[in-house]
Amino acid sequence: MRFPFLFISRRWNVKAVHRPQQSPCISSILALTRDQRFFVLRYTSTSLFKNDRNHYITTPIFYVNASPHLGHLYSAVIADCLHRYKLLQGFDSKFATGTDEHGLKIQQAAEAAGKDPLTFCTDVSERFKHLFSSCNIAYTDYIRTTEQRHHRAVEHFWSVLWNKGLIYKGSYEGWYSTQDESFLMPSQVDNAVDSSGKDIKVSLESGHKVEWMKEENYMFRLCAFRSQLLDWLRGNPRAVQPERFYQTVLQWLQEDLPDLSVSRQRSRLHWGIPVPGDSEQTIYVWLDALVNYLTVAGYPNKYDQWWSRAHHIVGKDILKFHAIYWPAFLLGAGLPLPQTIYVHSHWTVGGKKMSKSLGNVVDPLECSQIFTTDGMRYFLLRQGVPDSDCDYTDEKVIKLLNAELADSLGGLLNRCTAPALNPAQVYPSFCPQSFPSKQGGRTVVEDYHMLDAVKNLPATVEQHYERMHVYKALEAITACVRQTNKFVQRHTPWKLDRRDSKDQRWLDTIIHVSFECLRIYGTLLQPVVPEISNKLLSRLGVQPGERNWAALKFLLRYQGMDCPFEGRALGSDSGVLFSRVERQNVDKERKKTTKKVAKLK
Ligand code: MSP
Repeated sequence: MRFPFLFISRRWNVKAVHRPQQSPCISSILALTRDQRFFVLRYTSTSLFKNDRNHYITTPIFYVNASPHLGHLYSAVIADCLHRYKLLQGFDSKFATGTDEHGLKIQQAAEAAGKDPLTFCTDVSERFKHLFSSCNIAYTDYIRTTEQRHHRAVEHFWSVLWNKGLIYKGSYEGWYSTQDESFLMPSQVDNAVDSSGKDIKVSLESGHKVEWMKEENYMFRLCAFRSQLLDWLRGNPRAVQPERFYQTVLQWLQEDLPDLSVSRQRSRLHWGIPVPGDSEQTIYVWLDALVNYLTVAGYPNKYDQWWSRAHHIVGKDILKFHAIYWPAFLLGAGLPLPQTIYVHSHWTVGGKKMSKSLGNVVDPLECSQIFTTDGMRYFLLRQGVPDSDCDYTDEKVIKLLNAELADSLGGLLNRCTAPALNPAQVYPSFCPQSFPSKQGGRTVVEDYHMLDAVKNLPATVEQHYERMHVYKALEAITACVRQTNKFVQRHTPWKLDRRDSKDQRWLDTIIHVSFECLRIYGTLLQPVVPEISNKLLSRLGVQPGERNWAALKFLLRYQGMDCPFEGRALGSDSGVLFSRVERQNVDKERKKTTKKVAKLK
């Protein structure tokens, strides 16, 4: 018989859920029963006392075996966008990124480069840092797993699991992929032939080569957590997003969930954190890496304030580590689980996975030099769909940026601020008689549709940002920009006669309404294109303190209230908002870098 008991979910509603089913792994029942109780109490207390204005977002920490590529920037840009969005909403937001520096893969890469591992890691880690600062990734903490604070956190975390009896000494025999740093079951492995014609085994999921290994190591009682993981997911249907990936995790939990090897023999893997109390073993790199999220939160000291508000951004290839292993480790350690795991799909090139061997890796730094930082951020977030893979081509970037940033948004700002239409260079007055609340005078029904759409836009965008559907938020903004362009086009303000006071008032009203639309677009776009938004808002004379979510009140004059911008001088003209990208220039730049790379070889 199963007994329902009270459980307070992160959404504050108290509901009855079924007590997690007892695990078939009898050996850890005692520890688990205590844990379950502890978990519920812990979870409940953090929900009740959580600091609601704190937000903590993370990217995966990046492997330093090779230079950053477009996919890495994508993970970072999504997290940066959500961080900036939370700041606009008045949250205290912590945003962590960094590098994953231990493990066999890094050890081998350092050996191949003929460098000592730490020097090797520092070099590549600096390249990630450089990319992020070039692309305005406004992280608040950059963690490297080789740091002392992280060692301390991992050792502590390990000891907690050990003391609870959740880690035992055993032996592992099975497949291992160094490229994925992952243990695989026979059903996850396939036959393949390598480039030299040799028969090999590969991971079905990643296609990376696997090797048979047999080692004494420490095992984590993963299988004992299956029912708790299922309860967590069923009780929190938004814990893994989008829905497609949530279903994938549920599916995995229906399959076999064997205990997990969490260490490697030090003779094979010396580049990592030794198991506390056993210098012959090194902690498994994924256990080490996942704890980075806690390290940044302050663990093992005071960490609750941030940890109870954690959201992870991860690519689909590392879902299992984040949605099964990580929550199981946390449950074992009696810690709250992350609030959300946002999953994104991958960027491909010519329909193929990016890889060094195929020579199709897209360099994000080069792209951001050619298309500008904001251009690249806009492209990735507008075109990237979390549910499915996207293919990268320069052609797509050029088309999108020219249409939406240069022509549509830039064109609108340019038109409405042009001295010919706005000789006084001010935020002009709104005349309620020219734009009455019910259709009349010179207004037409489409004008009211536009007002409605822009008025509702912040709520629409908020909903999409909250669910990591940034592309949908951008789609909604773009549709409104198009409507405002049509509004201006429809009323041809350049044909009005300034000497006629009625015409002058109507002209001012058209520009006032257009500026109000632009102000809303500029404010909402800040998380995606911070530089362009800053340029746009500065040109409109909107001060830094007037750019947050609370300032998104649209067209106050139409609602009979005062507008703080009316009559204010515009900011100076610092040139076009976004210059059109020309195909020939892109080709020229690409050729230059190809030559540079060839010379280096
Ligand atoms: N080090 C691990 C993560 C540990 S987190 C505790 C790792 N590193 S990674 O460098 O291989 O990948 C980091 C992120 O980049 C992952 O989210 C991954 O999905 C993402 N991408 C790698 N290639 C990608 C594409 N081609 N496209 C989009 N993102 C992809 O995994």
